[in-house]
Amino acid sequence: AIVYLNGQYLPISQAQVSVLDRGFIFGDGIYEVIPIYNGQPFRMEEHLDRLERSLAAISLQPGYSRAQWKELVQGLLSHVSYSHSMVYLQITRGPAKRDHAFPKQVQPTVFGMINPFQRPSERQRTEGLSAIAIPDIRWQLCNIKSVSLLGNVLAKQQAIEAGVDEAIQFRDGMLTEGSSCNIWVVKDGTLLTPPNDHLILEGIRYRLLEELAMQSGVPYQARAISRAEVEQADELLLTAATKEVLPIVRLDSHIVGNGRPGPVYAKLRTAYDALVG
Ligand code: PDD
Repeated sequence: AIVYLNGQYLPISQAQVSVLDRGFIFGDGIYEVIPIYNGQPFRMEEHLDRLERSLAAISLQPGYSRAQWKELVQGLLSHVSYSHSMVYLQITRGPAKRDHAFPKQVQPTVFGMINPFQRPSERQRTEGLSAIAIPDIRWQLCNIKSVSLLGNVLAKQQAIEAGVDEAIQFRDGMLTEGSSCNIWVVKDGTLLTPPNDHLILEGIRYRLLEELAMQSGVPYQARAISRAEVEQADELLLTAATKEVLPIVRLDSHIVGNGRPGPVYAKLRTAYDALVG
């Protein structure tokens, strides 16, 4: 596989980063995950907007223009012939003597890779997923797409060890998000999602689902959502670049709705499929 590292395309076996890289030492970096359908980046501008917001939030300036980010994505794409792919971009503060303070005059490390993307299976779409509810123990700047993902990693592993697909996190009794996805609640036909604040990552699908709800005539509201509301939801959904939109039909010991993917999911799924082709 060919990857991008600091201006070069090279085989992954030859792509090397210093052990002093601040991504390795401190988790001092950010990342982005961009889906590609039939060779076409999906919502690339929005993903690059978020990449730039994450960089700005940690005062990291690799000096790439918008055109250069796009060139990088196209460069990775030109090396593969997958029907659908996922581009991963990661920028860290670069290699420096270990010291918490930002280093001076260090070149950030810019890394990119591309992998085949398996769209969600028919089974996941028709049978839905299961989840557990867990406390959100992460830091308070979840709006930054940081590579410091230990909280997310532990959440996902907790789900796996409980024999379910996803962990739905709650902070002070209120819904935040999944381990690597946004969460949606349907109640009495209205699509609800937590406010877009620093306690969640603003998924590219966070905005997209709002658009699709409008198009499909589904009332939509972003507001604080309690644990009880999640447990009594008519439908639960999750969204992520890697999961698109999928139904959750079981939460801990609760069956969601009638235990089958519901009508709002069906509408949003149809609209999503129509968009990505
Ligand atoms: N994760 N919330 C968190 C914590 C996430 O990690 C993600 C995505 C999302 C959804 O964002 P989007 O719709 O832009 O994919 C929400 C990516 C896919 C990942 O870490 O692999």
